[in-house]
Amino acid sequence: MSISVNQITKTFGEQTVLDNVSFSVSTGEIVGLLGPNGAGKSTLMKIITGYIKQSAGSIEINSESTSTPHMNYRRLVGYLPENNPVYHDMFVKEYLHWVANVYGLKSGAKRVQTLIEQTGIGREQYKKIGSLSKGYKQRVGLAQALMNDPAVLILDEPTTGLDPNQLAEIRNLIAEVGTSKTIILSTHIMQEVEAICDRVVILHHGHVIADGPTEQVRAMASNHAQTVRCEFAEAITPNDLRGIPHVERVEHGPDGTLLLYASGAEDIRPHIFDHAKKHDLTLLTLLQESQRLEDIFQDLTR
Ligand SMILES: Nc1ncnc2c1ncn2[C@@H]1O[C@H](COP(=O)(O)OP(=O)(O)OP(=O)(O)O)[C@@H](O)[C@H]1O
Ligand SMILES: [Mg+2]
Repeated sequence: MSISVNQITKTFGEQTVLDNVSFSVSTGEIVGLLGPNGAGKSTLMKIITGYIKQSAGSIEINSESTSTPHMNYRRLVGYLPENNPVYHDMFVKEYLHWVANVYGLKSGAKRVQTLIEQTGIGREQYKKIGSLSKGYKQRVGLAQALMNDPAVLILDEPTTGLDPNQLAEIRNLIAEVGTSKTIILSTHIMQEVEAICDRVVILHHGHVIADGPTEQVRAMASNHAQTVRCEFAEAITPNDLRGIPHVERVEHGPDGTLLLYASGAEDIRPHIFDHAKKHDLTLLTLLQESQRLEDIFQDLTR
């Protein structure tokens, strides 16, 4: 199911939080919605899910629009809100049954069982939600969002605060359900986008400042700059690393490492390796520092 966000504007009092935001998501796509704090991501998601009203513009999911009868529209959309507001005093299974009832599902019990398996919360199903770890709470939130098998999923920072294992599992789960659904997810993590999103939309101060396939936006990021952290067995100084192609600056990093800064899209790690070989240096660490999203924002908004 395709989603079309048409010239959405939202004001709260004097503040324009979303300013003429337009983009579309094709059927089966996973789109990453990125943006710094306060960019308007959650607000846009609340508008897409019909929880709050836009000041202007329209949202369409296939032919259904937020302005047509509400329940039809809501049936199409599953939503995991920011901070995952689940009822901490309810038991996992009890809560999911309650959600199934709210949707008026005929075979609710069966659906709950399927979702418990799919989201990997079998061992937690008889616990109180309040006693679950953050990752498992998040899975309960996802199960809730998937309850009526919606064609569209809106996930507001679904992996915030998860440990690396849980992070990987939740991402896999999203990618897996994503094969049959259209998904918009918000995140601050560039790697997350690279791992699971087909497209990226970057919001900044309520404006779309980038919209394109993940590859394209990644290229934008790597055009901006790259930082590589190195560690050598020998005690060397930044001067010893002079002459490596594309490297503009070398600085001392933490714990005796050296940070090499370069511009351009070409990966400088092979050049560093060659340099080490040529000068008989023993390279212990060669690590590309992940691009900070903030760097890209600065680059895009400068
Ligand atoms: N109900 C509201 N009343 C007044 N201002 C609001 C309301 N909801 C959101 N805002 C404002 O809208 C702006 C965007 O908020 P929003 O929560 O959409 O940002 P976000 O991109 O989700 O940020 P974050 O990454 O921190 O989650 C903020 O300045 C926020 O204070
Ligand atoms: Mg938010």
